[in-house]
Amino acid sequence: MKLARILYRAHQFWQALVKKPTKSDLEFVESLLTPSEYLLFRRMHWSEQAHGLRVLRSLLDRGEHHPDLLKAALLHDVGKSCFPLRLWERVVIVVAKAVVPGRVIRWGASPMLENQAPADWRRGFIISEQHPGWGARMAAEAGMSPLAIALIRYHQNGMSDVGKFSHSLDRHLLHVLQAADEES
Ligand SMILES: [Fe+2]
Ligand SMILES: [Fe+2]
Repeated sequence: MKLARILYRAHQFWQALVKKPTKSDLEFVESLLTPSEYLLFRRMHWSEQAHGLRVLRSLLDRGEHHPDLLKAALLHDVGKSCFPLRLWERVVIVVAKAVVPGRVIRWGASPMLENQAPADWRRGFIISEQHPGWGARMAAEAGMSPLAIALIRYHQNGMSDVGKFSHSLDRHLLHVLQAADEES
C-alpha cells in the first residue's frame, strides 16, 4: 500500500515538473481572481500554478462552483512562494510524507527565526508544514474573503480543525478542497 502511494505521488510529482500553465489557462485564472489575487498566483513557481489549476479543475468536475472555493483552489499553496522548494526537497518531502508522515509534521513544526526558514535539512519540511499559515496571511493582505482565507489556512489540517468552520457549507468546502488537493 505504501509503495502504491509513493508511486502515485511520484506520478503527481512528475506531472508537476513537466506541465506548465498555458496562455489560455492563465486567462481563465485571471477571469476568476481580482488583480491583487492574480498577482499572488503569478508569484508562485509555475509548477505550483499548474497544481492550483489541477485542483481547480478537479473541483469544477465535481460540480463545485463556490467563488471562494475556486479562489482558494488556485491560491491554497501561495505560502510556498515565500521560500520556494528545491527539487531535492520536493522529492524528499513526497517520500517522507508517504513513509513517515508523523515525523514530517514534527520536523516541520520547528520554529523559524525572524521569518527565515533555517538553512538545514529541516527547511523543506518547515515550508511543507507551515505554508498554509503564510498563505493565509498573504491572502488577507490581498483582501480575500474570510472564508477563502480560512480555506487556505486549514487546507492541509485533515478534518481536525473542521470545528473552526461554523456552517456545514463551509465544512463541505474544506472537505472537497482537501480531497481535490490530495488527488492533484
Ligand atoms: Fe499545501
Ligand atoms: Fe496543494
